[in-house]
Amino acid sequence: MFAPHFVQRCIESKCGHTFELERPIYTCSVCNGLLDITWTDTPKQDLNVLRSIWWSRKTSMDLRDQSGVWRFREVLPFDQNVDVVSLQEGNTPLYDAPKSASYCEIDALRLKHQGTNPTGSFKDTGMTVAVTQACVLGARLVACASTGNTAASLAAYAARADLPCAILVPTGQVSHAKLAQALDYGARVLEIEGNFDSCMRLIRELSEDGSLYLVNSINPFRIEGQKTVAFELVEQMQWEVPDHLVMPGGNLGNSSAFGKGFRELFALGLIQKMPRISVVQAVGASPFAKFFLSHDPTDPQFTDEPHPTTLASAIKIGAPVSWKKAWRAVEETRGAVLTVTEQEIADAKAVIGRDGIGCEPASATTVAGIRKLRAQQFIKPNEQVVAVLTGNVLKDTDYVIGYHNKSLSSDTEGFISGSFTNTPIQVTGGRDELRAVLSSLSKK
Ligand code: F0G
Repeated sequence: MFAPHFVQRCIESKCGHTFELERPIYTCSVCNGLLDITWTDTPKQDLNVLRSIWWSRKTSMDLRDQSGVWRFREVLPFDQNVDVVSLQEGNTPLYDAPKSASYCEIDALRLKHQGTNPTGSFKDTGMTVAVTQACVLGARLVACASTGNTAASLAAYAARADLPCAILVPTGQVSHAKLAQALDYGARVLEIEGNFDSCMRLIRELSEDGSLYLVNSINPFRIEGQKTVAFELVEQMQWEVPDHLVMPGGNLGNSSAFGKGFRELFALGLIQKMPRISVVQAVGASPFAKFFLSHDPTDPQFTDEPHPTTLASAIKIGAPVSWKKAWRAVEETRGAVLTVTEQEIADAKAVIGRDGIGCEPASATTVAGIRKLRAQQFIKPNEQVVAVLTGNVLKDTDYVIGYHNKSLSSDTEGFISGSFTNTPIQVTGGRDELRAVLSSLSKK
């Protein structure tokens, strides 16, 4: 089932233990370190042939070719003939966003919109691989903890694979849209008192006896799927690499995956430089940013945040499982980790909307962060910048309506004042009033 030259390897340099791909483990059984899936031998491929195979698959009717993940299957740890569980994920657009660029005071900004995936978030690119692996291993139950998007994604892929699926979510902290998706796809949703971190701890503990297959991003197969987005992005940029790549950080799987994707592109010789990878967190849920700013380089210790808080519920996370991999990505590429306020997230989200694009609150941390990084001169106005939008605008409409109706408020910042609000206009005076309103709206 597996390509012969891949293994699971502990990322700890002092350990580096390897495990066969058939082992359903999530961390190193020797030192408890995180696992990477790595090549035992860097594949020697003709790069132009590889590029043209990947490109030509875009016009093929084969299910694997129609997936933006499996289209790059030469870099995935499976036999070429594996039965994939796919919803034609990936192949997401890279938009030009001129209004967002001018808000950030840079010449141009591109938005890689992973919210156009089948279940509306980037999770699908990892889930297609993790659920395929669950089937290869003969799993009888797949499970995850989630702030909502992993839940929706796993529920859909488990339904496609006809696998029973259990999801742990923190009671009352998941948007209605995400919960609705998970329910509709038939997952059993288990609501737990506490926050995402407590759900994550519980499900990790319960997965230890092998009775369920865990597909959170601690599972290295998830990261394998998500890394292909780096391949897709540079292909869209005609094999050019942006100077900066900026993404939100929660459990830190996505930044780990982009780091791995770009590392592999570089190792294969498909790109000649790395982008600087920066991660943005909401100020109330920012253990990674705190670590980045104050860790001791000789003895890096990560401190969890016991009570994370943010209206961007997708990234309300205080104990990110993949911080070490994400740190490696940021460090290797000389990126930054920073925080943005609730007000900055909300305004940036509305600005992205004005570009006709839209995203969920967590995704908007990127544009808010780029604006800050520009102000700090970390980003120069003429550099090539790509922001990763992780979720669809329809994922959290309560937030959107709250912002535009000026009723959005946070525990830490109170009412969000809203510089870009767009409140519905009540027209009660009939046709004449309506005509006057419409005429006031015309382009001058
Ligand atoms: N953006 C969105 C829309 C998310 O749903 C998440 C994470 C992130 C960003 C952060 O990505 O965890 O890889 O750093 N959502 C997870 C979930 C935790 O359960 O849906 P990360």
